[in-house]
Amino acid sequence: MLAIVSLVQGKRSQMRCRKCGEKAVINMRQHKLALCTAHFLDWVPEQVEHAIRRYDMFTHHDRLLVAVSGGKDSLSLWDILQRLGYSADGLYIGLGIDGGVSYSVNSFEYARSFAQEHDLKLHVVDIPAEYGESIQAIAMRTHRGHYKPCSVCGLTKRHAMNRIARQYNYSVLLTGHNLDDEAAILFGNTINWLGPYLIHQSPVLEADKPGLVRKVKPLCRMYEREMAAYALLRGISYIHDECPFAKDSTSIYHKELLNKLESDRPGAKLNFYLSFLRARRDGLFSSSIDDQAEFLHACPECGQPTSAPGLCAFCRMFVQVEDRPDSGQLMDHDHTQLEK
Ligand code: AMP
Ligand code: FES
Ligand code: ZN
Ligand code: ZN
Repeated sequence: MLAIVSLVQGKRSQMRCRKCGEKAVINMRQHKLALCTAHFLDWVPEQVEHAIRRYDMFTHHDRLLVAVSGGKDSLSLWDILQRLGYSADGLYIGLGIDGGVSYSVNSFEYARSFAQEHDLKLHVVDIPAEYGESIQAIAMRTHRGHYKPCSVCGLTKRHAMNRIARQYNYSVLLTGHNLDDEAAILFGNTINWLGPYLIHQSPVLEADKPGLVRKVKPLCRMYEREMAAYALLRGISYIHDECPFAKDSTSIYHKELLNKLESDRPGAKLNFYLSFLRARRDGLFSSSIDDQAEFLHACPECGQPTSAPGLCAFCRMFVQVEDRPDSGQLMDHDHTQLEK
């Protein structure tokens, strides 16, 4: 309860719900909106539905697959979809991450029990069982993850998400990226002027090439704080630990910087992201040449689309015996990799 109360900023005791006048549990300064529990729990799905329609993400006729990590965002997204009347299956990817906190074992348990409790179908991919190695082991072996396994992990997750979505004929894959995630990614892409990443950062990644599944981020306008409050107030159990490898990561640092900005200028994070989307819609990148996505072919090993000559970046990881000078670079030729 303490945690809920502390979500309210400012003069807590005086804060009243804008809709009913009851005591507010959350004040969203960027929206100049304070709400009580009941109205906040109605407001969140309304906002998500608004984003789904605004960005033309999907309809009730689509076959939806939600990537669930066991964290607050993806489990809340699954919950919201149900409340909005969408039927969606889940996908959990077991990465074999331990980090002294049994991270994968525990996060799977949250995803599994949510699915069981709500009688939902959950696909499970077990990377160590399927490929014989955990993310950590692959990272140790390849230059790509020499210092941290995050890049190996990101590539592996995108590969598995696309593979399972195609294999089971889902038309749309949903992830729980929230506004703080998107703003931090955008910030990182901007300060490095990563053109192809900027072109592709979007609430919707179209399945515009054969073999690619449509990917959407229905929480892209929701603050992380709002999602934490939603999970808490809905009684959703989720893994509170961050991935042990994410500590001190650049994206967390960028999130902290943006939060400093936000605390002085409420709405700055949202404005940063939405202004970017508007600028892109108005043609900011229209003259850029997106040569990364142009020539995709099927990887001879796994059949997933790639623009790399020969094997896709994921399969290259498994034939890599030694550090290779090109394999650790930020950019690679795998189209499914472009976003982050
Ligand atoms: P992250 O990359 O950890 O910030 O997670 C972003 C989104 O990717 C989550 O909200 C999930 O939708 C998805 N995701 C992350 N990890 C997993 C996982 N192990 N299994 C399935 N989906 C995941
Ligand atoms: Fe992938 Fe941490 S390295 S979740
Ligand atoms: Zn109210
Ligand atoms: Zn491949």
